[in-house]
Amino acid sequence: MEAYLLDWVSLLLRWTHVIVAMAWIGASFYFIWLDNSLQPPVRVEDAARGVGGELWAIHGGGIYHAQKYRLAPEVMPATLHWFKWEAYWTWMSGFSLLTLLYYVNAETYLIDPSVMALSKWQAIGIGVGALLAGITIYEGLCRSPLGRHETALAGVLGVMLIMAAWGLAHVFSGRGAFIHFGALLATIMAGNVANVIIPGQRALVRAIEEGRAPDPANAIRAKQRSVHNTYFTLPAIFTMISGHYAGLHGNRLAWIALVLIVVAGALIRVWFVQRHKGSASSVVLAVGLLALAAAAFLVAPHVAPQQNSRQVSFLQVQQVIVQRCVSCHADKPAQSGFAAAPKGVMFETREQIIRHAADIYRQSVSTRVMPLGNLTAMTDDERALIDAWFRAGAKGE
Ligand code: HEC
Repeated sequence: MEAYLLDWVSLLLRWTHVIVAMAWIGASFYFIWLDNSLQPPVRVEDAARGVGGELWAIHGGGIYHAQKYRLAPEVMPATLHWFKWEAYWTWMSGFSLLTLLYYVNAETYLIDPSVMALSKWQAIGIGVGALLAGITIYEGLCRSPLGRHETALAGVLGVMLIMAAWGLAHVFSGRGAFIHFGALLATIMAGNVANVIIPGQRALVRAIEEGRAPDPANAIRAKQRSVHNTYFTLPAIFTMISGHYAGLHGNRLAWIALVLIVVAGALIRVWFVQRHKGSASSVVLAVGLLALAAAAFLVAPHVAPQQNSRQVSFLQVQQVIVQRCVSCHADKPAQSGFAAAPKGVMFETREQIIRHAADIYRQSVSTRVMPLGNLTAMTDDERALIDAWFRAGAKGE
């Protein structure tokens, strides 16, 4: 019953998280496009009123006319819309999901004893600590003198992110490492909104209301952070969906693939932003796609040459699967915390095992992500047995 309720809580949280994240990223994409597509105002009166750029658009049956002020209108409007709750709700729902899926079930999803034999609280401590350390180091770097040199800052941040990918992959399960890397990016992004962008906007509005000249440093800082957010967007979204791809995060070199995909995501976003401005460089796109291809190549499964031609009977294989897999992969899982067979995959009958032979091989031999967290203590010899059975044609007798 408890597992069943938790399934519902996680489903509703996930739903919420995707919705608010779409609202956040959607608004962010829209404003970046808007900013990069503005044209000088046509009417001289508009320019005289302080309008720096304008744009006409049609959407949903209406024609819209957006104008951006170089600084601010003479009179502040009665209603000024702010965009911040999308970001805050995305972070809050995301952190709740991380807690529910990866911290409550740390033994299953976060800890991989073959990577590092952590206790539950050690793993949670490292996870939360990594997020806190990440945002602290990032803030420190941006606010240090280095923060005034865009390219140098980007270089240092890049190195830090590579170290984070490497470090996380050496303490957590593959999916635990990927999700923490994504949570780190998303925490930095939400932090940029809360700590820099919104306070900067408040200061701007206050200055205008008080008739003072706004501090340009605020605008420069906010711009820098929103540029970072733009390039973090695609990598962060990638890591959020990557948990479903065991062939990727279960690989020994997954952290390098992660770095390559982050580079690809950032470059693809660069290319889109360039396109808004009408000068997209195909080299940027090509390098991004190459990085993606390199990641795919890196984690491609390779079938090792047959080491032994041992004869394996179906019964031997079934015994291993019953002992190591069926506690979860059953119609009514015995494993606590599971209300139903994970992903509907069951190994209770001969037909089910044969039908899933390739999946069984992939999950427990070529990537070793199953049994999750090796909770059922599957041995190397048992994996070799499944290997031999699968190569000999996965027969049912
Ligand atoms: C502790 C519980 C547990 C055990 C034990 C376990 N699994 Fe799983 N298995 C899961 C969960 C949870 C998922 C869903 C993972 C996800 O959400 O990506 C899963 C998914 C799978 C899938 C589907 C993967 C996909 O992406 O379609 C296969 C195949 C699989 N497991 C095979 C095995 C095999 C083979 C064993 C035994 C060697 C095993 N599992 C042992 C929990 C378990």
